Amino acid sequence: VQLFKQAKALRNYCLESKHEGKRIGFVPTMGALHKGHLSLLKRSIKENDITVCSVFVNPRQFNDKMDLQNYPRTFEADEALLNEVGCDVLFHPDEKEIYPDSSTMHFELDNLESVLEGAHRPGHFQGVAQVVYKLLDIVNPHKAYFGLKDYQQYLIIKKVAHLLQENIDIIGCETERDAQGLALSSRNLLLSDEGKKAALLFSRSLIDAKKMIATESIETIRSYVAGLFKKSSSCELEYFEIVNSDTLMKAEASSKNSLIACIAGYVEGVRLIDNLILIP
Ligand code: PAF
Repeated sequence: VQLFKQAKALRNYCLESKHEGKRIGFVPTMGALHKGHLSLLKRSIKENDITVCSVFVNPRQFNDKMDLQNYPRTFEADEALLNEVGCDVLFHPDEKEIYPDSSTMHFELDNLESVLEGAHRPGHFQGVAQVVYKLLDIVNPHKAYFGLKDYQQYLIIKKVAHLLQENIDIIGCETERDAQGLALSSRNLLLSDEGKKAALLFSRSLIDAKKMIATESIETIRSYVAGLFKKSSSCELEYFEIVNSDTLMKAEASSKNSLIACIAGYVEGVRLIDNLILIP
């Protein structure tokens, strides 16, 4: 894998490759790569001539300083994995390269940034939007790949890509899970084995919600999930919501189409999120 640290050099490389008629796929990450990232990379490698992966822990999307400090950083392992999978380019900028000064951009994200994750992590999606805007502008890929575990982020990034007015296809890829059903996440590295077991309550709640949606009211499902977490001594629920999968607005009691269940909470002090489409 060819390593770039400078945005300018990467921009030129991508421009030249495009002039040669090559198709570019892009997988932006914050490192601590796992099988979820691998599936994005493999798909990009299959669908494009050149795959660029960025590894940049974006300080502007962390609303909690400790969370930023504790975020896993495994650069050498990441680089080895990228070599193994056959990724062409690794972009690993330092903070100054992405944010030369303290100026910020503001993005109109409407209710997409004020609900769910946005309501609990003030400023988070503005930070995501800023870095993704910059990264997409540098690489200007044909396609960019994101995991649907961060479903709200995926909707926001589609909006950001639209603002760039380049023809970039934003592709959402299915969440990868371990054999027990736990959604893969870099943050899982911070959990003990016990914690990983306890964290299965998140995916189990979503699966139960999916089973219940045909016969039970949304309110009943909400109280059921709240009850599961009350009984657990190691999992803390931050929110469980059933929302419209296009607008993320709370689903009306009567609405039974385009529904997604989204959940967030804590295990061993580690913040986890997950989601499941209940009705496509
Ligand atoms: O999903 C992530 O890892 C990050 O939010 C992203 C999209 C790379 C932006 O920093």
